Amino acid sequence: MHAQQEVTMALSSMTHLTSAEVAALDPYAFLAVLGKRVIHPGGRRSSEESFRRADFRPDQQVLDVGCGVGTSAMAIARRFGATVSAVDISPIMLTRARSHVRRTGLAGLVTVTYGDILALGFPDHTFDRVVAEAVTMFVDRPRAVRELIRVCKPGGRLLATEFFWREPPTPEAREIFLGQVCPGMQVDTLEEWVRLYKGAGLSNSQVVSGPFEMMTPAGFLSDEGIANCLAIMGRAMTRLSYLRKMTWLMPRLQRAVPYLGYLLVVGEKPATAWGGVVAQAEEVAGGVAPERMS
Ligand SMILES: C[S@@+](CC[C@H](N)C(=O)[O-])C[C@H]1O[C@@H](n2cnc3c(N)ncnc32)[C@H](O)[C@@H]1O
Repeated sequence: MHAQQEVTMALSSMTHLTSAEVAALDPYAFLAVLGKRVIHPGGRRSSEESFRRADFRPDQQVLDVGCGVGTSAMAIARRFGATVSAVDISPIMLTRARSHVRRTGLAGLVTVTYGDILALGFPDHTFDRVVAEAVTMFVDRPRAVRELIRVCKPGGRLLATEFFWREPPTPEAREIFLGQVCPGMQVDTLEEWVRLYKGAGLSNSQVVSGPFEMMTPAGFLSDEGIANCLAIMGRAMTRLSYLRKMTWLMPRLQRAVPYLGYLLVVGEKPATAWGGVVAQAEEVAGGVAPERMS
């Protein structure tokens, strides 16, 4: 998408959405429009697990791909002092993320820009940490994973969360979730996801998994807090198109929830496998070899 096109769409997304536009929103964009802050399957719990394993530090450059409304990007900057580049493909998400960053005074640490996980506009080996919460499952996964690893520095860490089938779904639950609620999304087994990341070159990988808590009443409450839960419900009642979408979405999601879970894959980009490229880059920059490479 060209920058001009993105700006135009971002501007229109700040204004009133038509009923047809509301009906066409994917569930995540819809929840973001209603003001939901946490829009990935493991909720805040999986983000906290990711943060614990990330070892974020103030001197690091972090990339949050498919940042949504910017909740994790802002938390990483605020809590750990890291500099975060947050990218997303959706004008609605970009508008919301930029507004949240501005309002929380984190603009010095968090930059929000348009970015496609399949063709990230950053040179190889740019980031110390690369975060992708619930994004690769929407696209060509092997290509997306390769791209995440490409922009990560050798010795840097990748942290990705995905949907997976915790229990084999009934044909009905599978059709409702992948056919109606999230058409085009790919949900795999845990083993298939791990194979994908390892096959793309991730080493020392750890995997954590848990239930799809985001859309359970308890998960919703713990992710958003009582005040934002009430605000979201209040907003859902302000327009007939929101109510219609909500009453269509919720029962369908509930049918799929018992079979779905999240998994978090954490791993490192090996330093050695990328040595040739690093050495070349350093020669040009006249730099010193990083400790890990010696
Ligand atoms: C399930 S939401 C997760 C948002 C955020 N990571 C979070 O956890 O709150 C998926 C996000 O991926 C974004 N997305 C989908 N396809 C993308 C792509 N090709 N490149 C970048 N972002 C993408 C969507 O716009 C959306 O914000």
